[in-house]
Amino acid sequence: MDATSQRLLMCRPTYFAVDYAINPWMDPSAPVDAALAVRQWEQLRQTYLDLGHTVEEIIPVPGLPDMVFAANGGTVIDGKAMAVQFRDPQRADEAPAYRAWFEAAGFEMYDPKHVNEGEGDVLLAGDHLLAGTGFRTAHAAHAQLQEVFGYPVVTMQLVDPRFYHLDTALTVLDERTVAYLPEAFSPGSQAVLRRLFPDAVHATMADAEVLGLNAVSDGRHVVLPAQATDLAAKLRDRGYETIGVDLSELRKAGGGPKCCTLRLRQGKASK
Ligand code: ARG
Repeated sequence: MDATSQRLLMCRPTYFAVDYAINPWMDPSAPVDAALAVRQWEQLRQTYLDLGHTVEEIIPVPGLPDMVFAANGGTVIDGKAMAVQFRDPQRADEAPAYRAWFEAAGFEMYDPKHVNEGEGDVLLAGDHLLAGTGFRTAHAAHAQLQEVFGYPVVTMQLVDPRFYHLDTALTVLDERTVAYLPEAFSPGSQAVLRRLFPDAVHATMADAEVLGLNAVSDGRHVVLPAQATDLAAKLRDRGYETIGVDLSELRKAGGGPKCCTLRLRQGKASK
């Protein structure tokens, strides 16, 4: 299996907190160790560097505790960047901050016409763009994604509020394969996933409940929450190398490794 070296965008959790609840993982009355969150995030960043990836950082903005979840900052494919529109007002001001970063980095910019939470709900899997809906990204956003990026968009209907973004229920492992939690999808979407990915890895609820599917693969190495031990074993059986990271503090906001990571896909050659 070949590993692709990736260009990634991350945001240090300097102002991380759980001040509001916009998903079932968030409990503003539960304690959060902000310093530990930063250390865990630094370990994730170091893991990517050790794998040979490039990590760029966007400057965190005070008062935006969820800005650490860079996956929600946009969708970047073939040098085009689509900015985001959040469902919840608490996260709205993250959108222009990420947009400004993409623009300064020289990406061709597109603005969303509907709620669109970026790579949290939009995952490139081979030649298909898998697009989640049901909780965050609007179904209407899927047509715009197809028009902008020119990949066939496949709508994925999410049905379990704990798995509110597509990247909490499905991991792209390489051009051909994904791992996912079947029960997180509607019956029709499960049938589509079986058709597109007959060799997919099926995760258990126990794996998904530690956000095990919120993982980042370079085609060979899979960085995933250390607590997702069954999923890691299944992936190793398939020939992937797994690297467990502990993001327990960020999980209190409903996020894992993938949520903290936005893939910057330059041009056609490096998709
Ligand atoms: N608290 C954030 C929210 O609910 C977590 C976002 C996680 N990001 C992701 N790509 N799944 O919006």
